[in-house]
Amino acid sequence: MTKLRNQITEYRVQKIEAGKVFLYFWIFFFLFSILCFLFSARCGAQDMETIKLPKPKLKSTVSLEEAIAKRRSVRSYSSKQLTTEEISQLLWACQGMTDRRGFRTAPSAGALYPLEIYLVKNEGVYRYIPKSHQLEKISGKNVKQDLARASWNQSFIEEAPIDIVICAVYERVTSRYGERGIRYTDIEVGHAAQNVHLEAVSLGLASVPVGAFNDAAVSKALNLQRNEKPIYIIPVGHKR
Ligand SMILES: Cc1cc2nc3c(=O)[nH]c(=O)nc-3n(C[C@H](O)[C@H](O)[C@H](O)COP(=O)(O)O)c2cc1C
Repeated sequence: MTKLRNQITEYRVQKIEAGKVFLYFWIFFFLFSILCFLFSARCGAQDMETIKLPKPKLKSTVSLEEAIAKRRSVRSYSSKQLTTEEISQLLWACQGMTDRRGFRTAPSAGALYPLEIYLVKNEGVYRYIPKSHQLEKISGKNVKQDLARASWNQSFIEEAPIDIVICAVYERVTSRYGERGIRYTDIEVGHAAQNVHLEAVSLGLASVPVGAFNDAAVSKALNLQRNEKPIYIIPVGHKR
């Protein structure tokens, strides 16, 4: 009888010990996960270089009518780089925020804003953040040659000091408007692109819309997210 009691006690002690080990394991696992999360968030924050762009100017010596009349597709650029002010102005014209309620320079069906704008220059690839008028550095690699190759070797894409790539996230609009959302999004890309072309003229610069490219190759060159589809590449520079 005593032997049996001792066995039961021993069994209970073993069970309690096993329970403790199990509990310690989960506490360790939980703390380790939190540490990993904090570490990766910190590394991510360090990698994500952001650049505040200068405030866009709302006055120009070139009238809207002159800009419309002068706009021409230009496919030959000098090596002169663009200033940060010029880049700021072009990106603002494309998708800048012009209203406290979040409305932008280009109209958007249902104000759903499905466009993501990338800036490509020698120093790397940047994403434009309309709300803060900032650039977020995505990569430090010069992908201009990759972009030109992805566009059936249209060499002026590499020659231009910058390329603005307009991408669309169709789901943002199709989730409300169904299939018609595709049309709405494509129309919106046209609005944004035209703003860039006219702003370029206003700044004494030149541009060309490029629609002929391999979508997958452009997505790869820019390391785009799966739902971001490249629609337009707009090289901008000084006319040679
Ligand atoms: C949707 C679209 C796609 C285009 N794709 C290209 C292109 O891939 N390469 C190019 O050199 N021009 C491209 N263009 C520019 C046209 O060739 C140009 O607009 C046309 O020749 C008229 O000249 P303009 O822009 O000077 O008025 C494209 C234009 C549009 C509207």
